Amino acid sequence: MLQHVDYQRHQTASKVVKRVLTVVGARPQFIKAGPVSRALAAAGISETLVHTGQHFDPLMSDVFFDDLDIPKPAYNLEINSLSHGAMTGRMLEKLEQVMITEAPEMLIVYGDTNSTLAAALAAAKLHIPIAHIEAGPRSFDRTSPEEVNRVIVDHLSALLFCPTASSVENLKKEGISRGVHAVGDVMFDATLAAIERAKDRSGILERLGLSPKSYTVATVHREENTADPERFSNVMAWLERAAEQQPVIMPTHPRTKKLLEARGMKLKGVQVIEPVGYLDMAWLVHHAKSMVTDSGGLQKEAYFHRVPCVTLLEGTEWPETIDAGWNRLWTSQDYAPQREISDYGIGNCAEKIAEIVRATV
Ligand code: UD1
Ligand code: UDP
Repeated sequence: MLQHVDYQRHQTASKVVKRVLTVVGARPQFIKAGPVSRALAAAGISETLVHTGQHFDPLMSDVFFDDLDIPKPAYNLEINSLSHGAMTGRMLEKLEQVMITEAPEMLIVYGDTNSTLAAALAAAKLHIPIAHIEAGPRSFDRTSPEEVNRVIVDHLSALLFCPTASSVENLKKEGISRGVHAVGDVMFDATLAAIERAKDRSGILERLGLSPKSYTVATVHREENTADPERFSNVMAWLERAAEQQPVIMPTHPRTKKLLEARGMKLKGVQVIEPVGYLDMAWLVHHAKSMVTDSGGLQKEAYFHRVPCVTLLEGTEWPETIDAGWNRLWTSQDYAPQREISDYGIGNCAEKIAEIVRATV
């Protein structure tokens, strides 16, 4: 039986209590939550953290809570390894119950995963206002599961925190201008904090026997590159060709690892390793000569570390990295002339978000 939230009671309470519920579930969301959770606490906002369980291996989940000092989630729904519909549906049902129990004044979600979509749908139906961090990026490819999630969540959100000028423009074209705040990219905050900590705490170069600027870092996990066997083979062959220039180190998402193992693929010149924690990843990318990836986050992080990137996709939701000469699609040969990108801010994005959330509640 569904209980109904007594919003009148909570509206009265909201004059004295600032309570938000944050839903995370996948690796990039733990990373984004690091600086934001700290900033919310500093702004006197009480946060209840819910982990959907979408990512569950210790190296895909626990390690980030340790590396980034994120408080332990109050709930772990343990929903993972399902088709898009089944995963989103089960999360939606459980999150609705959590939201009814917790009756938050606002929901905070990050990015574009199924966990983001399920949380936003549950909150919208309960009339809980939604703050979407990383609102507005678009790849304009509606066959991409992440693009579908982004579009829907943006249209349900009351506060839209945009990381780039192009994100603000994209929302405007879709008729969204209320509640839009260009605050910069919270991943830049996370990178600055990680690089400081990694100096003392990461020994990854020594562990892997690498010297700075002598290797390429690669990651591959997107459905676009893993669902179709022929496409996956092409991407792996591309990496092997890149490895003829210099060694490629590939921290490997479980989905990709399973595929390589199932097909008995041994990649020449590519060192396939387990996923690494955030401090190790920051240190690895910081000292790399180049980056090759289909990760949204790593395309930007490559720029944060001023490492040239090749993106293994047909398009990107981060066009400024291409325009500024730090990124190129694998289908094109040349980089644009290099320049700095001002969009991502100066590392105080999380504080700006916390202030706006506090003023809104
Ligand atoms: C999800 C996000 C994607 C994001 C990525 C971050 C969606 C639609 N996609 O994709 O936007 O870039 O997370 O990494 O939400 N698996 C494990 N152990 C884990 C996690 C996953 O074995 O800890 C396996 C699952 O069993 C599943 C596969 O990896 O078979 C894919 O996981 P899933 O969460 O469905 O999607 P991601 O590819 O991780
Ligand atoms: N990352 C990490 N360890 C790894 C691979 C990635 O810490 O082994 C970090 C990476 O630095 C970035 C984030 O995970 O901050 C990107 O997540 P992912 O590529 O899984 O998802 P996407 O950004 O594509 O949604």
